Amino acid sequence: MAKARTQFVCQNCGTVHSRWVGKCEGCGEWNTVVEEDPMGGIGAGPGKVPKKGRPVALTTLSGETEEAPRIHTGIAELDRATGGGFVRGSAVLIGGDPGIGKSTLLMQSAAALSRRGHRIIYVSGEEAVAQVRLRAQRLGAHETDVLLAAETNVEDILATVGEGKRPDLVIIDSIQTLWSDTAEAAPGTVTQVRTGVQAMIRFAKQTGAAMVLVGHVTKEGQIAGPRVVEHMVDAVLYFEGDRGHHYRILRTVKNRFGPTDEIGVFEMSDMGLREVSNPSELFLGERNAKAPGAAVFAGMEGTRPVLVEVQALVAPTSLGTPRRAVVGWDSARLSMILAVLEAHCGVRLGQHDVYLNVAGGYRISEPAADLAVASALVSSLAGLALPSDCVYFGEVSLSGAVRPVAHTAQRLKEAEKLGFSQAVLPAGSADLPKGTGGRWNEIEGLPDLVARIAG
Ligand code: TYD
Ligand code: MG
Repeated sequence: MAKARTQFVCQNCGTVHSRWVGKCEGCGEWNTVVEEDPMGGIGAGPGKVPKKGRPVALTTLSGETEEAPRIHTGIAELDRATGGGFVRGSAVLIGGDPGIGKSTLLMQSAAALSRRGHRIIYVSGEEAVAQVRLRAQRLGAHETDVLLAAETNVEDILATVGEGKRPDLVIIDSIQTLWSDTAEAAPGTVTQVRTGVQAMIRFAKQTGAAMVLVGHVTKEGQIAGPRVVEHMVDAVLYFEGDRGHHYRILRTVKNRFGPTDEIGVFEMSDMGLREVSNPSELFLGERNAKAPGAAVFAGMEGTRPVLVEVQALVAPTSLGTPRRAVVGWDSARLSMILAVLEAHCGVRLGQHDVYLNVAGGYRISEPAADLAVASALVSSLAGLALPSDCVYFGEVSLSGAVRPVAHTAQRLKEAEKLGFSQAVLPAGSADLPKGTGGRWNEIEGLPDLVARIAG
């Protein structure tokens, strides 16, 4: 038998090197390469006899599995983000910064599911049973039949959850604490995490239990080290939020059984997480509509419209190079809007500092926010407040043209629902509702917007 060779694996991206290197050739990170046993946890012993499988014709499957069997949590925001609940036999990864509320969310979900008669096992590798119980008590979940286990060894966990009646859902909090006897690598390394996760996925597939895996995110915004885990699981959700704000967003980034652009919105209170069914009201809550530099953006998150305030401050600079600071939006996109305003609208911003903020600590990822950002900037520079009952949306191109975006009708409907009666939007928007009583101002280009605000 050939001597087992060790390999050198980057803990950041998983690239395998034949020798130790200081800088990973895959991702360019320094000091991330660690020696590992390549066969660790895979269990392909030399004497293994291959088992012959039997392919089945696709047509014979029709009608058999129309809809993935789901476990509804009854927490509407969670069900929305997962695409209708946890799928039996699948694995979901829930990532997020430490302390953001992952354990809280999952304890509440476990309690909700338990109340609906499901058998739930919560495996905590980070906290002792007493600590988990204390949290459960705070959340009013201590009188449910959720089963707790404090284990970190993969084989022990499998023995524990495999015992007795089959669980409907298993929660592993967290994957970073998993370690297996079969993997000869230090706990917390990619090999250990991968081996542990593989074993959990196998358990889910074999027993039909839904597996929820918790993963901490590193500073760089990755599930600590093992990005690889994201490829192994069926769905990946990120639990996001700003420590300074109370609300949290559960965002789907991968989902083999549903849409990936949905979000669930929660608010953290001293009684745990509360569902926010109308996020727009939350984001517009502390609005001062009379101040210059504030524009309401009618945005979309998946199938749901979200109204949020974009705030700009444009002030003369005392620096050689003016400052540009952005919170909640893409700074490259801000530079682009500033350049278009300069080049096509005669708005001079070279001698001004520009600060842009999205209210409530929310993050906008849609290019449709261009028009709202431009409006906030022009309003602040001109010192003129925008009409308080007006929303803005539309994409701005480098030529200064304003381009239509999707879901016009839905954006306007949400705006009307919240008391906005005007909108500035791109000309030629496809599904513009007629005769709704509102005033929809269609504009062709950014110069029209500037004339409308400052002219
Ligand atoms: P936790 O769920 O432990 O975070 P994670 O598992 O993502 O690391 O929650 C951490 C924070 O949430 C902690 O700072 C306290 C706060 N919290 C509340 O504000 N209210 C509550 O009811 C609970 C349980 C936690
Ligand atoms: Mg936790």
